[in-house]
Amino acid sequence: MKVLVTGGCGFIGSNFVRLMLRTHSDWSVVNLDKLTYAGNPANLNDVEGDPRYRFYRADICDAQAVAAAIGDGVDAIVNFAAETHVDRSISEPEAFLRTDILGTHVLLEAVRERRIQRFLQVSTDEVYGHVAEGSSDEAFPLAPRSPYAASKAGGDLQVLAYRVTYGTPVMITRGSNTYGPYQYPEKLIPLFVTNLIDDQPVPVYGDGMQVRDWLHVDDHCRGIEHVLLHGTPGEVYNVGGGNGRTNLEITQRLLALLGKDPARYIRHVDDRPGHDRRYALDCVKLHTLGWRPTVAFEEGLAATVAWYREHESWWRPIRSGEFTAYYRAQYAGLHE
Ligand code: NAD
Ligand code: TYD
Repeated sequence: MKVLVTGGCGFIGSNFVRLMLRTHSDWSVVNLDKLTYAGNPANLNDVEGDPRYRFYRADICDAQAVAAAIGDGVDAIVNFAAETHVDRSISEPEAFLRTDILGTHVLLEAVRERRIQRFLQVSTDEVYGHVAEGSSDEAFPLAPRSPYAASKAGGDLQVLAYRVTYGTPVMITRGSNTYGPYQYPEKLIPLFVTNLIDDQPVPVYGDGMQVRDWLHVDDHCRGIEHVLLHGTPGEVYNVGGGNGRTNLEITQRLLALLGKDPARYIRHVDDRPGHDRRYALDCVKLHTLGWRPTVAFEEGLAATVAWYREHESWWRPIRSGEFTAYYRAQYAGLHE
């Protein structure tokens, strides 16, 4: 199988490319990535020399570049490429609309024209919005509440419309909050871990009682692989870890793993505008199809902390680059 992966230099995409090349000796992967601030070719240094792997630096909004990456054909496209950080979508939403909506449209057109056999859109539980009680299954109404979530929902709706209108063989996965190696340190877990390694405080938004359902990146990638191989065209599949935790619980656990005194490091800062209180996914559909998460949360979190401790050479250059200006603007006052 020849797979075009878009956004393969980001967090989940790079873990997916590595895992698929390791798992399937008969697969080849073309990775198309624009290398935004979040894209890092170093995430895939270890597969660079593999003859089954090719990299194109390009934008998914550029139809000609997408056609060039498809070349004489691919069997499937898995679309990870997106602007992904909620806080950035609040300060600068435009790039989200462009990549997450227009970019998805460009890929769908390529799938339609070239009659590609599978298109898998990697989406998020955030499209369901705040879930007050119970859990959201795939039929739950879409009620996105941030520019990021609204852009992803816009992408999902186009994907489903292509199925109805053109019969395009599409599938969608909606994953929950993902953690693990190679995550850009703007997201909760890697931000807090790297701050604490540097003996810096951690900024908890509001009261910290917001709930997220945590999923290890290997489980997320296996879920996407499972849907790609066994899913039904036109269907949506939730991929959740089943590990609902408040942000304060996560913070306390990270402090314990890094041997830090909570009273000294936790700072409650202004809440994120429109902050979703709770996400919770019903994953019965994917469980019935044969996928289950395998990484126990406490073990996965400890291994992730150990990875960041052992890979300062990966995150220090990131934290001293573009990230510095973003961090100063986002967390002004934190260090006073
Ligand atoms: P990320 O921000 O780490 O990586 C995104 C990648 O996409 C980067 O390599 C970036 O360079 C690339 N990219 C951005 N715009 C592009 C464009 N126009 N053309 C080509 N490449 C472009 O993101 P991630 O956390 O790995 O998320 C991957 C996908 O999974 C996203 O679609 C996201 O919505 C979804 N998702 C993420 C999570 C999570 O917790 N991280 C959870 C559920 C779903
Ligand atoms: P994040 O990792 O940004 O993922 P998402 O917003 O996509 O869920 O945030 C996870 C949770 O952590 C979310 O409820 C917001 C909260 N959070 C903080 O409290 N402080 C922070 O500095 C960040 C980045 C997130």
